[in-house]
Amino acid sequence: MRIGEQIRTLEGTLMLDARTGAPAGADASLRGRESVRLVRGAVRIESGRIAALETDEGAPIDPRRIICPGFIDAHLHIPQFDSIGRDGLTLLDWLNDVIFPAERRWEDAAYARAMGARVAKRLLSHGTTGICAYGTVHHEGTRAAMGSLAAAGLRGCVGQVLMDQQGPDDLLRPAARLLDEAARMEGVGRIEPVVSPRFAVSCSMELMRGAAALARERDWPIQTHLAEMLPECELVERLHGMPYLDVYKHAGLLGPRTVLAHAIWLSEVDRRELEGWRCVVAHCPTANRFLSSGDFSGQRFRPLALGSDVAGGPDVSMVRVARAAREAWLASPQSQAAPAFGPGYWWWQINAGNAVALGWRDAGRIEVGAAADLVIIEPDVELNDPGAALGELMYGWDERWVGATIAAGVVAWARVA
Ligand code: GUN
Ligand code: ZN
Repeated sequence: MRIGEQIRTLEGTLMLDARTGAPAGADASLRGRESVRLVRGAVRIESGRIAALETDEGAPIDPRRIICPGFIDAHLHIPQFDSIGRDGLTLLDWLNDVIFPAERRWEDAAYARAMGARVAKRLLSHGTTGICAYGTVHHEGTRAAMGSLAAAGLRGCVGQVLMDQQGPDDLLRPAARLLDEAARMEGVGRIEPVVSPRFAVSCSMELMRGAAALARERDWPIQTHLAEMLPECELVERLHGMPYLDVYKHAGLLGPRTVLAHAIWLSEVDRRELEGWRCVVAHCPTANRFLSSGDFSGQRFRPLALGSDVAGGPDVSMVRVARAAREAWLASPQSQAAPAFGPGYWWWQINAGNAVALGWRDAGRIEVGAAADLVIIEPDVELNDPGAALGELMYGWDERWVGATIAAGVVAWARVA
C-alpha cells in the first residue's frame, strides 16, 4: 500500500462489535457487555465510507491480517508530544516546569503547523484516526496545527486552550479576547472546533461562563479537566470558593457534549450527578499512573471514554491505553465484586465506545455507512484460540504490527516493508 492510495476493497479478519456478548467458548468476562469479535470477511469502500460488508461466520480467522476500526483518542494534547517522559513531578509543577514552556513554542504558527504534521504522522502510525485534542492558548498556532492534522486525514475536534489566570503572563489572555478568538474558530477538513477551558485553576468564572455560552450558541462540544489530583481540587476550592464540580455546574459547562478528563477525586454522589448531566468522563489510565494522580474508580460510569492524555500519559498507542485501563481495573478493589471488564471490552472502548461517547455516529465501527477509517494489523504471533485472541493482541501489542492506516478510504500511513 502507498500513502495517498485510494482503497476500494479490503479482505481479511474483521474486528466487529459484539454488543450482546461473546461467542461460545470465549472468556466469561466478555459475556453480557460491549465487546468486539473477529470474523473473516471483506469491506467495500466508496467515497470514503464503508459501502458493503461481507462476513463468513464459519470460516477460520486469518490472524495475520486483522482489519480494525481506526482507534479514537478521546483526550490528548498536540503541543505536548515532545514532552513525553518528563517524570518525577506532580501535576501543577509539571504544568509550570515542563508543559507551559512547550506550549509557549506555538506562539510561532509555522512551528505549530510543522508540529501538527509531525504529530499527525505519529498518531496515524499507531493506528489512531480520531482525536479529541487540545492546542494551546495561541489562536493562530492552534489553527495552523488543525490544518496539518486535517490534511493528514485525521478526524475529530481540536480546541484553542482558554486560560486567563494562574499561569505565566505570556500564556494568559483577557477572557473577552479569548472568547472572541474561540468564536472565530472554524472547522477544516474533518477537524472541528471544541471549546476548551483548560481547567478551573486557570479559568475565571467569567471565562468559563462565556465558554459555556459559546458552546451552546455554536453547538460545539466542550472539553476540560476535572479532579485529576488532590492539590488541584484544593486550589480550585480556594480560588472559586466552592467544590470543583459546583464550579463547572455554576459556569454552565456540564452537559452531554462535555468531556471531563480524569475525574479521579470524586465521590459516588458526584459521579451520579455527572451521569445525570450525561457528561462524558475521559479515563486516562496511563496519565494517572505517570503523574501519580490517584486511582480512577469510575469504570462503570457511562458514557465513559478513554484518552492517552499525551504528555500526561506517555503512550501514543490507544491499545496500550486500553491495556492500562484493563490493568487499572484489575488492580481496583471493585474488580473482585463486579463482573470483569475484559480485554474485549476495553478494545471496544477505544473504537465504538469512544465514538459513542463523543457523539460520532459514523465512527468506531466496521458497518455500512461508517467512515472508512481503518487500521490493518499484521501480528507476527499465532492467535490460535479466537476466544483468547483479544487478550493476546492487547498484551502482546507491538506498534510494528500496524501495517497501514486508512483515513476516509485513503492510505494515510503505511509501514515501509
Ligand atoms: N490539567 C490542566 N492542564 C492539563 C494538562 O495539560 N495535562 C493534564 N494531564 N492535566 C491538566
Ligand atoms: Zn489533559
